[in-house]
Amino acid sequence: MNIDFHAHILPGADHGSSSLETSLRQVKLARRARINVLAATPHFYPNHESLSTFLERRKNSERCLREALPITAPKILVAAEAHLCRGMEEIEGLEQLCFPGTNVLLLELPHDFSIRDYEQTLDALQYEKKLEIVLAHIDRYPESTIDFLLELGFLAQINAESFCRFFKKKRSMRWAKELDSVVALGSDIHGCETGYREFLKMKERLGKTYEVIMSRTQKLLKL
Ligand SMILES: [Fe+2]
Repeated sequence: MNIDFHAHILPGADHGSSSLETSLRQVKLARRARINVLAATPHFYPNHESLSTFLERRKNSERCLREALPITAPKILVAAEAHLCRGMEEIEGLEQLCFPGTNVLLLELPHDFSIRDYEQTLDALQYEKKLEIVLAHIDRYPESTIDFLLELGFLAQINAESFCRFFKKKRSMRWAKELDSVVALGSDIHGCETGYREFLKMKERLGKTYEVIMSRTQKLLKL
């Protein structure tokens, strides 16, 4: 099974796909890359908008896309990429951002993340809200930060492009091959630029490890 865990394919839902036309092109590219399950994970920035505004936009965007999807399209799962903010554990209904039928939340760390600033929120999300947190594109953050968070029980998603970048690929390969907490891979596609070229390259480079990670995703999302 090929699961793209992280993609911005909902038209107008965020700064990913800007139109239905683009979304349909993204879906077509995914299908050509033999993606079976495609997660739509629009950005949610709790500091900039309310959850209800986001959910309303996501719902309308999802309807618009589903009405136009060809029968051959991959299965679309609608979730979100939630930006970590202090106090976000207080947002009522936060679980609506999780993958359907799960308590799995894709969480994006701020660029200036430090554990000291977010310790309380992360703890509350994990232990009070009982969310299974998957850290989005861990390849974007310092190695020591990520290794520390994974030791605390957070799960991780890696972006395909990092397996194709000279300065990043060694580290992403190490994480993917050695850590059970790497449970998902994603295109993080926003437009159509490189399509699924990097996703396919990642699949080839990871070999058997790719299959191992896909089965973890499958289990996590109860597919
Ligand atoms: Fe993203």
